[in-house]
Amino acid sequence: MLIYAHRGASLDAPENTLAAFKAAIDAGADGIELDIQASQDRVPVVIHDRLLKRTTGAPGNTDDLPLEELQKLDAGKGEKIPSLADVLDAVPESVHLDIEVKCKGIEPEILATLKDRSKSSYAFSSFDWSVLETIRSLDGDVELWLLMAAMSDMAIAKAQALGATALAVHNDGINAKTMKVASDAGLKVVSWTVNEPDEAKRVRELGVIGMCTDAPARVIAGLVARDAVATSENTAS
Ligand code: G3P
Ligand code: CA
Repeated sequence: MLIYAHRGASLDAPENTLAAFKAAIDAGADGIELDIQASQDRVPVVIHDRLLKRTTGAPGNTDDLPLEELQKLDAGKGEKIPSLADVLDAVPESVHLDIEVKCKGIEPEILATLKDRSKSSYAFSSFDWSVLETIRSLDGDVELWLLMAAMSDMAIAKAQALGATALAVHNDGINAKTMKVASDAGLKVVSWTVNEPDEAKRVRELGVIGMCTDAPARVIAGLVARDAVATSENTAS
């Protein structure tokens, strides 16, 4: 079961910045979840909102400015908005990437940016399943995860039609019944966004293959501590 740092270690550093990704790696996260928007010059950039205001204070949208101008903005504590290429340079392939595509229309540029990256080192996710459809039409074997709040028959049918590997589901929608539905459909399950160790333990025991967390250090330490208690109880009994 892999721990993904959601927008990097986003409780410890500004979200979706190289500082957050470095903090995630330092915390021992197995993977990093990041969000993609487009710049005006069609470069995939790593920022959650199309609107620049919340994370940079600047007016307008990511696609109003070319990369060079976007990278003059302060994405928090002096960090800049990274391009996807910047992230690939900074994060080793041993750290799996959950690349959530938040915009339409730059799927070819995203795939081109990843052309030298091993396909086993990343998966694409999106709430907009048409984006995943476009990616699938451009690449027959890249890994796809369908993002959703809760599982549905429609989601399962779409995942199967796209040859997706996993459903990425809010942890409130993960229980024994939904895990069986996914498993019967040949699909794995990823959980988002889990910050409390007890909840992380619950969804892990149900069989998720990964979970996103804003607090990878806390969740990893919490799971290790709970495993140690379980081991000592088993030894004593
Ligand atoms: O991994 C799923 C999660 O990232 C979706 O929510 O709003 O943080 O992109 P959001
Ligand atoms: Ca996301």
